[in-house]
Amino acid sequence: MSTEEKSYWSEYYKNHSKPGSQSLFADFVKPFLQDKTSMIELGCGNGRDALFFAENTTIKYWAVDQCQNEVDFLNEYKGKMPNLTFLADDFTKLKIDEKLNYAYSRFTLHSVNKEGERRAMKWVSDHLKPNGLFFIEVRSTKDELYGQGTNIGEHEFITDHYRRFVVKEDMIENGIEAGLKLIYSLQSKGLAPYKENDPEVIRLIFLKSI
Ligand SMILES: C[S@@+](CC[C@H](N)C(=O)[O-])C[C@H]1O[C@@H](n2cnc3c(N)ncnc32)[C@H](O)[C@@H]1O
Repeated sequence: MSTEEKSYWSEYYKNHSKPGSQSLFADFVKPFLQDKTSMIELGCGNGRDALFFAENTTIKYWAVDQCQNEVDFLNEYKGKMPNLTFLADDFTKLKIDEKLNYAYSRFTLHSVNKEGERRAMKWVSDHLKPNGLFFIEVRSTKDELYGQGTNIGEHEFITDHYRRFVVKEDMIENGIEAGLKLIYSLQSKGLAPYKENDPEVIRLIFLKSI
C-alpha cells in the first residue's frame, strides 16, 4: 500500500468514522454463512459490514484495514463483542496464520495494484479451509468513474485516490491461478448504487476445493 493511499483513507475516516448500514453485498453474502465459523474481511473501512456480520451471526470475525486511526476507533466503538476484532494491516501482506472458513472483500481489490491483488488471492487461497469461500465485490472497467483522473497504467487512474478498474476474466484467472475455483460470477448495474451513481460492478465467489 502506498503512503498516499493510506493518508487519503485515514483522512477520509476522520469525518466518516462511524459505521453506516451494511452494504447490499453483505445482504447477498449473509445467507451463504454457516454458524460457528470464521471469516476475514480485507479492507473493512468504517466497519459497516463487519459489524453487521458480527452482530447477526456467530462467526469469529477479523476485519482488516490499513487505517490505524479507524481500527482503533472501531475497536472502542464496537464495545463488548468478543467475536469481532479490527486489525490494522496491509491485506496484501498478511501474516495472520489462521485457517478460515470465509474471506470477504468489498470495494477493496480495486484499491490495490495487480501484484497486490495476486498476493491477496494467494494468501486467501492458502488460508481458507477446504470448502471455504471468498466473496468479492469490485469496480469493473464499465464503471462510470472509469477514465476520470490521471491514467497511470492499464485501467489505473488517480483522482483524489487510486482506483484500478477490473476486467472480470482477469480476476477470475488470478483466483484460479491462486488455487481457487470460481462458483459464482456476475457483472451488473443495480448491485451497488450510491447517491446518483449506479456503477457496473463485479461479484465473484471462489471456493477452496479439497
Ligand atoms: C472503498 S473503501 C471500502 C470500505 C468497505 N469495504 C466498504 O465497502 O464500505 C476501501 C478500503 O480499503 C482499504 N484498503 C485499501 N488498500 C488496503 C490495503 N492494502 N490494506 C488494507 N486496507 C486497504 C482502505 O483503507 C479503505 O478503507
